[in-house]
Amino acid sequence: MSILTTIDQGVLTIEFDRLDKKNAITSAMYTQMAEAFAAAAGDDAVRVILIRGKREVFTAGNDLEDFMQRPPRTAEEAAEAPAFRFLREISEAAKPVVAAVSGPAIGIGTTLLLHCDLVYAADSARFSLPFVALGLCPEAASSLLLPRLAGYQRAAEKLLLGEPFDAAHAEQIGLVTRVVPAAELADVALAQARKLATLPASSLRETKRLMKGGDIAAVRTRMAEEGQVFGRLLQSPEAKEAFTAFFEKRKPDFSRFS
Ligand code: COA
Repeated sequence: MSILTTIDQGVLTIEFDRLDKKNAITSAMYTQMAEAFAAAAGDDAVRVILIRGKREVFTAGNDLEDFMQRPPRTAEEAAEAPAFRFLREISEAAKPVVAAVSGPAIGIGTTLLLHCDLVYAADSARFSLPFVALGLCPEAASSLLLPRLAGYQRAAEKLLLGEPFDAAHAEQIGLVTRVVPAAELADVALAQARKLATLPASSLRETKRLMKGGDIAAVRTRMAEEGQVFGRLLQSPEAKEAFTAFFEKRKPDFSRFS
């Protein structure tokens, strides 16, 4: 299993555990995470959810081989894909979600943070959203949430150019709650999650719901829209060229596509 889950002192920890592939997330891993979120919603032993990777890497994002081999063939299939199931769960989770990010957080490794309540990042954390360079488009409602958070032009540098950014910048734009030394990240994130777990659960749920306000419906609508475009682009020749180039360890050549 490439996702580890444990429940301790009210905290469900979901950990990426596929270091040899830089914690790239397969369909099976998305399904496991979606199911862990769904189970947590009805489990009184879980008061907080903590998502973490390894010290070396949070996650390299979607598994590109999975994308190549099992692209959704219809918009309906795309909407039901495990990645979108997971995104629906995390974006609508009533219980607080904490993330601990160390090393690279690529693609969904960055966009999932937009749905977490507290995000702690090691000073080693590095974020990037290379959707366009992969012939794809943003997901997780990042096309809505990132411009809102960072301002349109700063979001455009990340979503159009796919320029990576470091932990200090992530904190500056509000994507990250606090940056801590890498050696302290796991302890800080767990301590904060445990603090939440001792607070009145109903008050936490109501406060989170009030803070999110009308966003949940807007996020759901945007994710559905992104999902349709994403599913179509996944089958484009540009995406095929980008994925093939990655595995052939060369630069993609998009010059023959208009
Ligand atoms: N999907 C599938 N496999 C991946 C992967 C991904 N997203 N990211 C890394 N891997 C695999 C590599 O193919 C490699 O496998 P191999 O050992 O069988 O050749 C292994 O993980 C190690 O990756 P490598 O690229 O050699 O490590 P690195 O330290 O040089 O670089 C990253 C690490 C994360 C910067 C780099 O792997 C990367 O850019 N990954 C792709 C990120 C991406 O585009 N994600 C999709 C976002 S939508």
